[in-house]
Amino acid sequence: MIIIKTDQEIELIKLSNQLVLDTLAELAGIIKPGITTLDLDSIAEKYIRSKNGIPGFLGYNGYSKTLCTSINSQVVHGIPSNYELKDGDIVSVDCGAILNGFYGDSAYTFAVGNVDPQTLRLMSVTKDCLYRGLAEATENNRIGDIGSAVQSFAELNGFSVVREMVGHGLGKKLHEEPEVPNYGKKGVGVKLKRNMVLCIEPMINFGTRNIVQEKDGWTIRASDKKPSAHYELPVAVGIDKPYVLGSFDKIEAILNSR
Ligand code: MF3
Ligand code: CO
Repeated sequence: MIIIKTDQEIELIKLSNQLVLDTLAELAGIIKPGITTLDLDSIAEKYIRSKNGIPGFLGYNGYSKTLCTSINSQVVHGIPSNYELKDGDIVSVDCGAILNGFYGDSAYTFAVGNVDPQTLRLMSVTKDCLYRGLAEATENNRIGDIGSAVQSFAELNGFSVVREMVGHGLGKKLHEEPEVPNYGKKGVGVKLKRNMVLCIEPMINFGTRNIVQEKDGWTIRASDKKPSAHYELPVAVGIDKPYVLGSFDKIEAILNSR
């Protein structure tokens, strides 16, 4: 069952997601070679709690951290550890938070120091895939219109789309219906209705689309060990335009001022 939100509920989800984006902006200011992903996790947890939020991933299906930190060929669900970020790494930081009983959920892939141009292009294409997907979140479009927009732009640029991991509805639960694949065909799939809230989260690989799960039971990695990028934002389906529940502006203002 797909839950349609009220306008008021959508504003609450936006507030929760603003806390997530503010958390990512805090991290944007400190991501540099030598910091560990556990450092990032404890800073994120403290920040969320200082704003009276609850970390959204902590305890979810037994997950033990506030963030997922996925480095280089790790696609998603990397577990923060004592790994020190190093020059040339990229790290997807995925964060969830609960305020007023509603979840926020967003992710951003950060460059650590100097990243090679091909990998920077993967990051920028993946972010554009997200924006193209978000633009399709209008009433009477279908889920396949989102997937098709993401997939076609990724593949046009020579990259590949992870199939097994998908976006999702968002609300009182972190993962609600429907599933939002990053591939698909125009005009196919569930019809979108005003005030559905969807997380769109393209996971785009430099090489093969195939993935493997690491022995920790969480981390998903590109099987050819080439880089993978991931960005996520939630959107409320609008009648003639999407209502995106936050932006990366604050994160990027901090990145650009460093
Ligand atoms: N942000 C991830 C998602 O969008 C959730 C991470 S799974 C968790 O689905 F278990 F770590 F919470
Ligand atoms: Co998500």
